[in-house]
Amino acid sequence: MATISLDTYRDAYPEIAADYTVPQRWAEYTDEEHAVWNLLGERQAALLPGRACDEFLAGLDMLGLQAGGVPDFDQLSAVLGARTGWQIVAVPGLVPDDVFFAHLANRRFPAGRFIRRREQLDYLQEPDVFHDVFGHVPMLAHPVFADYLQAYGEGGLRAQGLGVLPQLARLYWYTVEFGLLAAPGGLRIYGAGIVSSASESRFALTDPSPHRVTFALERVMRTRYRIDDFQQVYFVIDDFEQLLRETAERDFAPVYRRLARLEDLAPDALAADDRVLHHGTQAYAQARRAGLTGTA
Ligand code: PHE
Ligand code: FE
Repeated sequence: MATISLDTYRDAYPEIAADYTVPQRWAEYTDEEHAVWNLLGERQAALLPGRACDEFLAGLDMLGLQAGGVPDFDQLSAVLGARTGWQIVAVPGLVPDDVFFAHLANRRFPAGRFIRRREQLDYLQEPDVFHDVFGHVPMLAHPVFADYLQAYGEGGLRAQGLGVLPQLARLYWYTVEFGLLAAPGGLRIYGAGIVSSASESRFALTDPSPHRVTFALERVMRTRYRIDDFQQVYFVIDDFEQLLRETAERDFAPVYRRLARLEDLAPDALAADDRVLHHGTQAYAQARRAGLTGTA
């Protein structure tokens, strides 16, 4: 992808700031845009009980994101801020890595202000406000997860300096975006990429195709991921305290040194010391590769 710079966005957003934030201009969302939010929100709210973890569902309820249209980021930040100190700021789209990490390190979550069109309800290439806010913000109301994401921002700035961003990015991908949790009642979703998608909310938990493997830090950081389709492996944490202990509370410098000597793993590979919870058939991925199924 071409490098992002302020000039990428300046024509469409003349008021863009040096940290890539823009005014949300909430009053300018149309009725149709609010209607699209409600369609997506109500569909996910019906699907997620028993699938998303209790921590996510509690955040969703507290913030009331299921309906009521595209949320006003200032109002949302007031409620969220009182709970965990996080704020939501508007950005035009993807921002450079260092800008993204600096926002997270300061407990600001950058969210796109645009929303997908009705014709694209199930598929879009760039994250929109529904993914960014409905998907990510409920977990930011959970104090432990809130600390995890801030620490990740600090770790990102450090990883950039060490030239090991691809490894650290895999951790974000397989936790923040596509993480699963072994809850007392069974397997549950906490990853934003899953909870904001109707089809992947079903696929991630119950489809026989993907592997489901117990989270292990170095294993995750060795594993490549796909951005164009459902994941071929999901990593499962025991609880959020474990996630914080194994990441935020550890010095990654020795981890990065060990990783430099290890081969990357393909998205569908299993490793000898994996704790495999479900050995996937990979049937879905194979069928897609053979062109046998349409867009899920
Ligand atoms: N502790 C990591 C380091 O030393 C940073 C980090 C924190 C990474 C939280 C991921 C999540 O670099
Ligand atoms: Fe995301």
